[in-house]
Amino acid sequence: MSQSSIGRDFNKLRMIVSTLLFWYFGSVFPVWAEPKEIDTNGCRECHRLSSKEKKSDKGPDLFYAGDKFYKNWLNKFLQSPTVIREVNVFSESDFLGKKHKANNPHVALTKEGVERVASFLMTLRLPNFEVGKVSKEPLSKGERAQTKILFERSFGCISCHRALNLVGKVRGGVSGPSLVNSGLRLKPDWIFHWLKTPQKFMYEGGMPVFDLDDETTIRITKYILSIRKNP
Ligand code: HEC
Ligand code: HEC
Repeated sequence: MSQSSIGRDFNKLRMIVSTLLFWYFGSVFPVWAEPKEIDTNGCRECHRLSSKEKKSDKGPDLFYAGDKFYKNWLNKFLQSPTVIREVNVFSESDFLGKKHKANNPHVALTKEGVERVASFLMTLRLPNFEVGKVSKEPLSKGERAQTKILFERSFGCISCHRALNLVGKVRGGVSGPSLVNSGLRLKPDWIFHWLKTPQKFMYEGGMPVFDLDDETTIRITKYILSIRKNP
């Protein structure tokens, strides 16, 4: 055997060994491991973390959390939860919406727990989720005025969702989640797909499915992102 072929064999062996080591440690310490806080706080009692789990009537689905939320927002929410759905639509005892969330605060996590849980939630994604649908360019003044009419009158989004009036006051219905400052919370591509094909998210709830073309969907998405209230 020549010197160089021994060298080649050695290199091959080294590659095999390092691949095996990587596999072994990769499976012992996967970066995407589920943090213990998920179990200790009973997140699964109210949320679906995988599309294969049984649908919960206690809380919104999270099995596409990485497609839906900004991590910064998750960090803040999990540490000091805010009310997004003023009416507890997820509780059957709440028929007619008498019981408000404020009486029933969401579990809050410690700072270290939050980082682990938020990172984990960001790994929950739908396969084949298409991104890049909505450009960063905001609506022009004219487009915004037209889209406001769609949002408020043509589609009546305002009858179920909180938004802002001309002087920046919160107003609108409460049967859906508030859309005020949702640009800090929801990713544009997620809003686009939600409006266009809510079935993608296995949604069977109280929001009507609108038959929108791409152009209109993008405009409404940008409009939603512009409903911004300074604290
Ligand atoms: C007792 C039921 C319950 C438990 C337990 C629970 N949640 Fe929730 N969670 C809810 C409800 C209800 C909401 C909706 C709150 C709102 O809209 O104001 C919510 C909202 C959320 C949201 C925002 C989702 C959205 O679409 O608005 C996230 C993220 C979340 N929960 C994560 C968690 C995590 C992580 C845990 C475990 C550490 C957990 N929750 C435990 C009931 C629960
Ligand atoms: C009949 C009431 C109703 C109307 C009308 C309605 N929605 Fe909704 N919408 C809902 C409900 C209920 C949900 C909550 C689903 C959930 O959280 O499980 C929702 C969810 C949403 C969400 C996701 C918010 C989140 O945080 O999860 C967006 C974005 C949204 N709607 C936008 C719109 C727009 C834009 C329109 C008008 C084109 C509209 N909705 C019309 C009831 C409505």
